[in-house]
Amino acid sequence: MSDQNKVKPTAPAVQTTGHAWDGDLQEYNNPLPRWWLWSFYGTVVFAVLYWFMFPAWPVGDGWTRGVTTASVIEQGQTVDRPWNTRYQLIAEMQTGDAALRQRAYAEQISSASFQEILDNPEMMAFARSVGRGLFGDNCAACHGSGGQGVVGLFPNLADDAWLWGGTPERIHETLIQGRNGYMPAFGGVLNPSQLTDVSEYVLSLSGLTQPGEAVEPGREIFQGPIGGCYTCHTPEGTGLQSLGSANLTDAIWTLVDLPAEASTEAKRDALSAFIAKGVQGNRVMPGWSDRLSPTDLKLLAVYTHQLGGGQ
Ligand code: HEC
Ligand code: HEC
Repeated sequence: MSDQNKVKPTAPAVQTTGHAWDGDLQEYNNPLPRWWLWSFYGTVVFAVLYWFMFPAWPVGDGWTRGVTTASVIEQGQTVDRPWNTRYQLIAEMQTGDAALRQRAYAEQISSASFQEILDNPEMMAFARSVGRGLFGDNCAACHGSGGQGVVGLFPNLADDAWLWGGTPERIHETLIQGRNGYMPAFGGVLNPSQLTDVSEYVLSLSGLTQPGEAVEPGREIFQGPIGGCYTCHTPEGTGLQSLGSANLTDAIWTLVDLPAEASTEAKRDALSAFIAKGVQGNRVMPGWSDRLSPTDLKLLAVYTHQLGGGQ
């Protein structure tokens, strides 16, 4: 204890600036460390070089452009433009490694058959990554980001039920020419009890009711001249991809939301209401051939095909 009390501040061994604050507070006058000083000079040199090389100082309405350039292709000619991030991006998109690789893949895709694309893991990886972007930009607004669709409005593209066909070739055709399903309104053709009967029969096609006597009147309407449903949906009810007429036997519903209806009666009523209205011009899949390039359309067909339900 007493030893500690004797310790007195020793006089500084190094030079001070000569000022004293608060009586005894002094400031050392040490030289800056060498490494610090040289780093500082380095930053000054770097800054001056940078001003010289790159866009830097505002001058009047413009700025100093620097001597660095970026080579871009304009109207088929390679020209050097003063460097800036915009020209750098253009150059990378035109001649960067990624751009060249992408162009090579796109060329490969445009000349390959669908089967060759499906069999080639590299082309598939490319189709998946580019397709995701194209799908998000053009298709997701209606079909949903994963292609899951909305019952009654936009078909699900990720299941294996297809109105118009799920081969890449058929999907490609759907994309090029668009689709517009048509089913007549039966409200004026069939009376309410006939609508109920034919709905009962439709329920039996996918096992929602037992086939038996109760569905006989409906079968006659479906398979006979009064309803004529078989002409579009086939006598088996499996639908025709040439007409986009739904398969009524697969228990997958794209227009009438049957799973949402709890009781068999409610399902039958939902069907009757739909059959009375039909589908006229309000289910439009637009055609894309004037909006997307042939390669993009091919990539999208492959992408849609691999969403889950490709045939
Ligand atoms: C404006 C909304 C809308 C947009 C955008 C749209 N679709 Fe469609 N699509 C529909 C509708 C509605 C149908 C159903 C047409 C029908 O069956 O009559 C459909 C049907 C389809 C089908 C046929 C499904 C089947 O079961 O056979 C495919 C495939 C398809 N769309 C893919 C796409 C792709 C890929 C894109 C993006 C390029 C796209 N759609 C953009 C509304 C849209
Ligand atoms: C002119 C052809 C045509 C006739 C006739 C026709 N349909 Fe359709 N039907 C279609 C088409 C096309 C669709 C799918 C429309 C779409 O996706 O845009 C459809 C859809 C349906 C659906 C919805 C299926 C689902 O997945 O949600 C039911 C149910 C149906 N039809 C029942 C009938 C019944 C019952 C009759 C007879 C009374 C009938 N259809 C007559 C063409 C027809």
